[in-house]
Amino acid sequence: MRIVVLVSGSGTNLQALLDAGPPEQTGYAVVAVSADRPGTGGEDRARERGIPTFVVRVADFATRAEWDAALTREVAAHTPELVVSAGFMKVLGGRFLDRFPTINTHPALLPSFPGTHGVRDALAHGVKVTGCTCHWVDGGVDTGPIIDQRAVRVEPGDTEGILHERIKVAERAMLVDVVRALAAERRAGLRPLD
Ligand code: GRF
Repeated sequence: MRIVVLVSGSGTNLQALLDAGPPEQTGYAVVAVSADRPGTGGEDRARERGIPTFVVRVADFATRAEWDAALTREVAAHTPELVVSAGFMKVLGGRFLDRFPTINTHPALLPSFPGTHGVRDALAHGVKVTGCTCHWVDGGVDTGPIIDQRAVRVEPGDTEGILHERIKVAERAMLVDVVRALAAERRAGLRPLD
């Protein structure tokens, strides 16, 4: 299964997908990585593996719709069967989502604490268990059908940074499991993605 990964940050989720094993074992191949800004760790990690990368910045287009069309065109050139939004901090457009089955990973147990500050909001609320969610992207903010979740305990003294790092350990394992499972289902013809 050909996947394109979208990143905005350090790219450790991308790294987990790359480190999970060769396509013969995992059932998927990362064929390209796209970032919403230059200079992300995610892009560096892809380059180190010789994976093509490209940046499509919202700021370079007059309208959001034009950005949506450009990102769709660039991603389509790599003919992905699945797009993985792995720490991608932009809401994808309708054209993009009509074209590509897309999953996202979020560092909270949805539907609780959607949005940019899921970890901070969970901590501020005082929950004792939080975690991460992998879901289909449907055009809302962290609203699509849930595929998998992992629970993570909040420990006394946790800061947002410490808690987020603990969540990301679970998140990376979840993401690899989900993408492997989708690839296996696709191979078996159980879940046609398009
Ligand atoms: C992840 O926790 C993701 O859910 C959130 O930002 C983090 C990205 O981490 N939106 P990385 O760039 O994969 O290291």
